[in-house]
Formats: sequence, C-alpha cells, structure tokens
Amino acid sequence: MTSRRILVLNGPNLNLLGTREPEIYGTATLTDVEALCARMAASHGLQVECRQSNHEGELVDALHEAAASGEVLGVVLNAAAYTHTSVALLDAVKATRLPVVEVHLSNTHAREPFRHTSYLSPVAEAVIAGAGVHGYGYAVDLLALRHLRE
Ligand code: DQA
Repeated sequence: MTSRRILVLNGPNLNLLGTREPEIYGTATLTDVEALCARMAASHGLQVECRQSNHEGELVDALHEAAASGEVLGVVLNAAAYTHTSVALLDAVKATRLPVVEVHLSNTHAREPFRHTSYLSPVAEAVIAGAGVHGYGYAVDLLALRHLRE
C-alpha cells in the first residue's frame, strides 16, 4: 500500500488554540493549523489526517493505528504537556517506528525548566519549537520531502 498520508497529532489543551494563552500560543485555532497542514501536504500531492486528544492513551492508540494502516508516511506530533512526561508516547514512537517530527508552537527551551525536557526528542526525526503555527507547515514539508526522496 502506498503511504500518501501524514498524521497530524495534537495533544492536550490544543483543542483550545486560539483562546488558550494567546500571548504564548497565538490566535490561530486548531482548525487553522489543520488547514495549513492540509495545504502544505496538498502542495506535495499528499493528504493529512488530523487528530487531537486530551488523553494520553488515545494518542498512543492514534500512533498504533497510523502504523497499522500502512498508509501513514510520518507524524507531525505536538504532544503538548505529555511531551515532558510520557514514557508511553516515547515507547509508542519507538514501537511503531513511524518518522515523527516533534512540533511546539512556543520555544519550550525559553520557558519553565520542566518544559526543557522532552521524552520524544531523542526518537524524533526533527524538532521544531518556537515557530508558532508555521512549525506545523515546516514539519509537513519536511516529512513530505523526506518521503519523496525515498
Ligand atoms: C506546547 C508546549 C508544551 O510545554 C505545553 O504543555 C503545550 C504546548 C507548544 O506547542 O508550545 O501544551 O507543546
């Protein structure tokens, strides 16, 4: 089966983008972010599947399902607060072997010390933090270019 799809997976509280701490996360909504990802993917002839959950296990399930489908060429993952806590997500990325680009809207390294640690960065293909919503577009672009090179 040909992999033509990129999973855009967002974690807890990102459903509130647009109204959530706009001074940190900006005013674009999750719908705006997902539309941006879809446009970038379409420019490479690819599609996106967008999912968001506030529940750690559902994010793990989404990674398992993406891998099992055989159709997902990579994942744009903003695990939000679970980035800094989740061994389960780390293990899911390792288990599925899906190429993951870790994205954060804010520059987590310029924020509180507990945000400086990511359980996901060691297994991510790339990490984009602090580019706001553009980071999602860059991540889709990167996964698409990587896929088209293969
Ligand atoms: C975030 C950064 C995390 O530290 C935070 O818990 C989030 C969003 C970001 O996109 O900047 O929920 O992942």
